[in-house]
Amino acid sequence: MFAVETYQLTKHYQSGKIKALEACSLQVDQGKIFSLLGPNGAGKTTLIKILTGIIHPTNGGAKILGHVFTDFSIHHRMGYLAENHRFPEFLNAQQVLFYYGKMAGVSKSALQEKIPQLLATVRLQDWGRTKIRKFSKGMMQRLGLAHALINDPDLIFLDEPTDGIDPIGRKEIRDLLKMLREQGKTIFLNSHLLSEVERISDEVAILNKGTLLQKGSVDDFISIKEQFQIKVENGTAQLPQICQELQIPVTHVNDFYTVAVKEMGQLNELIDRLREQKILIQAIIPRKITLEDFFIEVITENKGGEN
Ligand SMILES: Nc1ncnc2c1ncn2[C@@H]1O[C@H](COP(=O)(O)OP(=O)(O)O)[C@@H](O)[C@H]1O
Ligand SMILES: [Mg+2]
Repeated sequence: MFAVETYQLTKHYQSGKIKALEACSLQVDQGKIFSLLGPNGAGKTTLIKILTGIIHPTNGGAKILGHVFTDFSIHHRMGYLAENHRFPEFLNAQQVLFYYGKMAGVSKSALQEKIPQLLATVRLQDWGRTKIRKFSKGMMQRLGLAHALINDPDLIFLDEPTDGIDPIGRKEIRDLLKMLREQGKTIFLNSHLLSEVERISDEVAILNKGTLLQKGSVDDFISIKEQFQIKVENGTAQLPQICQELQIPVTHVNDFYTVAVKEMGQLNELIDRLREQKILIQAIIPRKITLEDFFIEVITENKGGEN
């Protein structure tokens, strides 16, 4: 069973004038961190709002933890941190968690035990009695996270959780998300902050103008399987020569030669030839690109497409 499975989910606004989401089908494994990436206006928030029952899709369907998404009984197993969430500013942090916990159906005695623990988890233990109007953006975001965890959910939707947070605060949130994954929880994250996502996501999907462009693991996206960087101790004259004979394109930057092979057999043939000539290989490194490079490539390839 998947934590989330969507089938051709579609959302049009203003009688079809705005196509926020187009036939979006994806699966999210349980116990994993899944990130939905895309530029502003891609449709990320629209998708989370459909899955959390806030808006209805124009077409298509979804299953959440094995239940049809319109079965609202599943909501007690879900947590949700909305993008730009606002809590009433006259409340203190404890009161926010108490009232929202009550609304989520958590008992008073469970809340009394849970609230101090959650405040400690998000490092607000000394701020429980402070009115939240005094909170910084980072503190507000951490309180939002605590509120998304108040019902001990199995599946947590987080819409831009690290938005407006400084680097240290972002690391704290990353660590918290990893801890939640260790507890077996599934995290569905919307983000436009690629370097954040690269470090913690198990799976990534890229959305642009409502259309899903790519899905896969971060590793799948960032390693170019056919390119390797080779460093040799001697034989720098022979290496380009051997590559030419094997018809392997090669480029040279600093101490490294980058070769573009058709498949692993060709790489091994190159290694055999280098070793035959007693060339000492110091390193062979698969070439990686950043998720950001990949993202820009995917988005620009699809520019001017749909919509
Ligand atoms: N209630 C709405 N009415 C009309 N258009 C909307 C509404 N909500 C979102 N949109 C539009 O749908 C598109 C997707 O928005 P959104 O899901 O918020 O994207 P993202 O979260 O990726 O930035 C955008 O073009 C946005 O302007
Ligand atoms: Mg959004």
